[in-house]
Amino acid sequence: MRKTIKIFESIKEIHWQSNNMTVVEADGKKITIALFKEHLYAFAYKCPHAGGVMAEGFVDSLGNAVCPLHRYKFSLRTGRNSTGEDYLKTYQTEINENGVFIIFEEKRWF
Ligand code: FES
Repeated sequence: MRKTIKIFESIKEIHWQSNNMTVVEADGKKITIALFKEHLYAFAYKCPHAGGVMAEGFVDSLGNAVCPLHRYKFSLRTGRNSTGEDYLKTYQTEINENGVFIIFEEKRWF
């Protein structure tokens, strides 16, 4: 199932922290949003390793979200951890004339 949730009317409405990240609430979840090279990325609020708050970290020059706690790096695009086996949950985003959206894909196993 695919759910598209509007998070802002336009990209200009987003108040970025100094690290080009912010946190939004969508579909009952806190989601981290990051801007990197003019692309918008959405991913989990907490790090899968030990719960670090990803919005308190930063994005490195290669496009990895770096966790503030133990500095694990996760690709903004795939969520893949460059040094271990943890995956950061990522979400697709969409920007169009109607607003800024996060797309939730729910997998069903039946
Ligand atoms: S909690 Fe994020 S790297 Fe450990």
